Amino acid sequence: MTFQEQIQQGIPSQLPQPKPYETNINHAPKRKEILTDEEKKLALKNALRYFEPKFHAELIQEFKKELDEFGRIYMYRFRPDYEMKARDIAEYPGKSEQAKAIMLMIQNNLDYAVAQHPHELITYGGNGAVFSNWAQYLLTMKYLSEMTDEQTLTMYSGHPMGLFPSHKDAPRVVVTNGMMIPNYSKPDDWEKFNALGVTQYGQMTAGSYMYIGPQGIVHGTTITVLNAFRKINKEPQGGLFVTSGLGGMSGAQPKAGNIAGCVTVIAEVNPKITRIRHDQGWVNEIHENLDELVERVRKAQETQEVVSLAYLGNIVEVWEKFDKENLRIDIGSDQTSLHNPWAGGYYPVGQSFEESNTMMAENPELFKEKVQETLRRHAAAINKHTEKGTYFFDYGNAFLLEASRAGADVMSENPTLGREFKFPSYVQDIMGPMCFDYGFGPLRWVCTSGKPEDLQKTDEIACRVLEEMIQNSPEEIQQQMKDNIQWIKGAQENKLVVGSQARILYADAEGRMKIAEAFNKAIKNGEIGAVVLGRDHHDVSGTDSPYRETSNIYDGSRFTADMAIHNVIGDSFRGATWVSIHNGGGVGWGEVINGGFGMLLDGSDDADRRLKSMLFWDVNNGISRRSWARNEGAVFAIKRAMEAEPNLKVTLPNFVDESLF
Ligand SMILES: NC(=O)c1ccc[n+]([C@@H]2O[C@H](COP(=O)([O-])OP(=O)(O)OC[C@H]3O[C@@H](n4cnc5c(N)ncnc54)[C@H](O)[C@@H]3O)[C@@H](O)[C@H]2O)c1
Repeated sequence: MTFQEQIQQGIPSQLPQPKPYETNINHAPKRKEILTDEEKKLALKNALRYFEPKFHAELIQEFKKELDEFGRIYMYRFRPDYEMKARDIAEYPGKSEQAKAIMLMIQNNLDYAVAQHPHELITYGGNGAVFSNWAQYLLTMKYLSEMTDEQTLTMYSGHPMGLFPSHKDAPRVVVTNGMMIPNYSKPDDWEKFNALGVTQYGQMTAGSYMYIGPQGIVHGTTITVLNAFRKINKEPQGGLFVTSGLGGMSGAQPKAGNIAGCVTVIAEVNPKITRIRHDQGWVNEIHENLDELVERVRKAQETQEVVSLAYLGNIVEVWEKFDKENLRIDIGSDQTSLHNPWAGGYYPVGQSFEESNTMMAENPELFKEKVQETLRRHAAAINKHTEKGTYFFDYGNAFLLEASRAGADVMSENPTLGREFKFPSYVQDIMGPMCFDYGFGPLRWVCTSGKPEDLQKTDEIACRVLEEMIQNSPEEIQQQMKDNIQWIKGAQENKLVVGSQARILYADAEGRMKIAEAFNKAIKNGEIGAVVLGRDHHDVSGTDSPYRETSNIYDGSRFTADMAIHNVIGDSFRGATWVSIHNGGGVGWGEVINGGFGMLLDGSDDADRRLKSMLFWDVNNGISRRSWARNEGAVFAIKRAMEAEPNLKVTLPNFVDESLF
């Protein structure tokens, strides 16, 4: 069978041979045993409803084995034999170009070079699923290959409920992931209902088919590092950035430090991960001796060398040693996995990596004590530096939260709502006021031809648009424009593509619209093939997350999720090709509601109309909410948007004279 025929057949009418469990693949860990015997029967019944009854006797044994061994039913036997990767859009079967673009993006999210646990359909973050099992994948691809532009496919947490009649301007696919009745949104609820096969954790871009590999996190981290230096009025050249973690996301920090142009020192306790990052070229040097590291840093600072130095050891040792040596740290942060402190996310100081792993399994109580002791020492050392002028910020990894729970000295002396800690989070100080409030956020695109030349042309187009725009941009947003021009100019050289030919940059509503419009024109003129436009959910409007994306909302509304819901509803009727809304992502199940979109630009007049209508809303929705929360940058930005678009009328806040209280 050809690739096209395999897609079109969906779930095969004859059972394929069982597949051996491949040990050379990175597999998802065994999930927690959570179902009762009765619930296990229900999970099996749920799984078997995808198949004709004549196959049930054979499949029930196999699915039961998967449930017992892995805690989930993945239906490994149904994994397709063709290579999993994004193909040229012309290779996909079907009647709708939009549907073909979605197939391309789904396959990119499951590409072995992109996905973390490809056989379990997990793209990133340990549990970020595109689907829960292979039957869902096969059925979804079949539906997409059959659908017309007068139909919409409804996705219930990985399950394709079906094709429903709609119209050409409606989204081709509507995705929900993990939407729960609020009282059933605790971590164990995910374990249970995911094991039953009725919901899944979509993370942010996994379950919305918009993940493009590590490029997104490199870009976001670069912007953060650049702005952190600005916050302290210092050029990155010769400046010192100290942080930790060379893992999945944290590993972007040294590369971002290099792109920003500073000296980066990054501690990592895991020797294997340290070597991998070094071999990949994400960090320049590995050091194991603190005295040598200090000398190396001094030399790099003096010569303004751009270099990233990994310290193989505990981050606490670095903070303490640099204090003793009076080495000035300009910017400090942390990206150990403190959202998961007791199971390997954060390692205690004063013992080896192996000792910690043994203690974690054999004496979890003592391990917890050691972690908390380390957190207190960690915070104490940071405090010594901040007293000397270091600028420290929390990087969305729950460092301040866990340090406070451990009794570390991190609480503010004068706490106010949203300012409980003595240090800010990166969104409170940097991303929120400098980017999101002005509408700057992620615009990403994928060239559906799969050609690197197309990506290069789109890079050039985006750069040209931004360079034109910056001529007339107000002072307030000049810096963000400059950063992104610098980023897009260096993007080819930094070789950030993994999987599909994709790019990301930050732009405001006007920038996103103008770039998209220019792409659509280039497609119309035959300069490039069709482009899928999208964004990640770490953005101005798409995400309500009180300790991350919306942590710089101080009117008390940061625990509401109206903005994200409005966003996805609004995108859906303004022309998105697909929309998604998720519970969980980044900070955890129950902690965030986030949504996104995908849009196919095919060079048509319809695409031109849709992109203008939808992108304007997709950004200005969040700016209006941030403005209503009295964020001054957002008040500025929404007034400017109203001047440019007479049909926009937003309720503006009145500011109260503090002396009245
Ligand atoms: N701000 C953001 O935009 C953003 C984005 C992604 C992730 N995060 C958060 O950042 C954290 C890290 O994410 P990740 O995907 O890199 O996780 P990860 O678990 O892959 O990496 C963390 C690394 O820290 C190392 N580590 C733990 N304790 C250490 C210590 N005391 N000293 C030195 N090294 C230590 C671990 O060995 C591990 O390699 C998570 O909490 C995540 O939620 C924030």
